[in-house]
Amino acid sequence: MRRERQDGTELHGKILGMFFLQESTRTRVGFSAAAQRLGAGVVEVQGNRHAMLSSSPERDSDTLRIMSDYADVVAVRHHDPDFVRAAARWITRPLVNCGNGNDEHPTQALIDLFAIRCHFGCISGLTVRIAGDLRSMRVAHSLVGALKRYPSVHIELASPTHLRMPESYLTGDTGRGTSIAERATFDTREADVVYVAGYPRQRVSSVAKEKARLRYRLTTTQARHMRPSALILCPLPRFDEIAQDVDALPQAGYFQQSAAGLFVRMAVLKFLLKQPR
Ligand code: CP
Repeated sequence: MRRERQDGTELHGKILGMFFLQESTRTRVGFSAAAQRLGAGVVEVQGNRHAMLSSSPERDSDTLRIMSDYADVVAVRHHDPDFVRAAARWITRPLVNCGNGNDEHPTQALIDLFAIRCHFGCISGLTVRIAGDLRSMRVAHSLVGALKRYPSVHIELASPTHLRMPESYLTGDTGRGTSIAERATFDTREADVVYVAGYPRQRVSSVAKEKARLRYRLTTTQARHMRPSALILCPLPRFDEIAQDVDALPQAGYFQQSAAGLFVRMAVLKFLLKQPR
C-alpha cells in the first residue's frame, strides 16, 4: 500500500483559488493558511462587490470562470446564494462554498462538528442550543443541516419569532431519535452546547428590535448557569453577542473552535485534491 506523504508538501504543485466578494477573516485566512501548510499555492480575488463593480465591469461569473481555469480548487464567498449554487454546476474545478449570502456556510458546520466531537467525543445524545438571528445567520442553517443527520441529537433553536429559522432548513431526513424544538427565550441551563450564532446590530432597525436582540446575547450571568461540562461555541466574529468576561470561563470554546478550523480546512482541501479525477 502506498503511504501518503505527511510532510507538509502533500498538495505541492496545486493551487487554491480564493474568490471572496464578501468580507471574511477566518474563512479567507484559514483556507489560505491551510493550503500553504500543505504546500499548495494560493491565488486570490477579493473585494467589496460595489467597489469592484465601479472599478471593473466584469461579471462575477466571468471572473470566477477565469480563476477556476488557473486553479485546482476554488473557495468562494458571495453575497448571492444563487451565484454559488449556479457556479457549482458550471465550474470545472471543485468548489468550496465559503458562505453564500444568508443561505449556507458548510465548512463552518464541519468546524463546529469537529469542535463538539473534540470536546464530548460524540455528537449523538447531546442537547445543542443555537441562539441568534436564525433567519439570516447561514452558520446556523448549515449547523442544523449537519446536526439533524445524527441520531439522538436534541436541537433547540432560540430566536425572536420574526427571526425564526426558515422551514426549508428544518425539513428533510433526521437521524433516529433526533428532535428540533423552537423557543422564544434563550436559556443556557441543561444544554451541552450553547452555540451563539450571531445577531448583528446593523440589521436591527428599531428600539424594540434592539431590546429583543439584547435578549439573545450570552452574558456572564447566563454563562455561569451552564453545566460545568458544557461548551460555548461561536463562529466568530464576535461583536457583543458574547460578553468578553465569558472568555475566561472553562466552557468558552470558541477560540479553540476557530483554531481547529485550520485542520478542518486542510482536511477539506486534501479530500478534494487527492480524489482521482
Ligand atoms: N466564521 C466565519 O465565517 O468568519 P469569517 O466571516 O471571518 O470568515
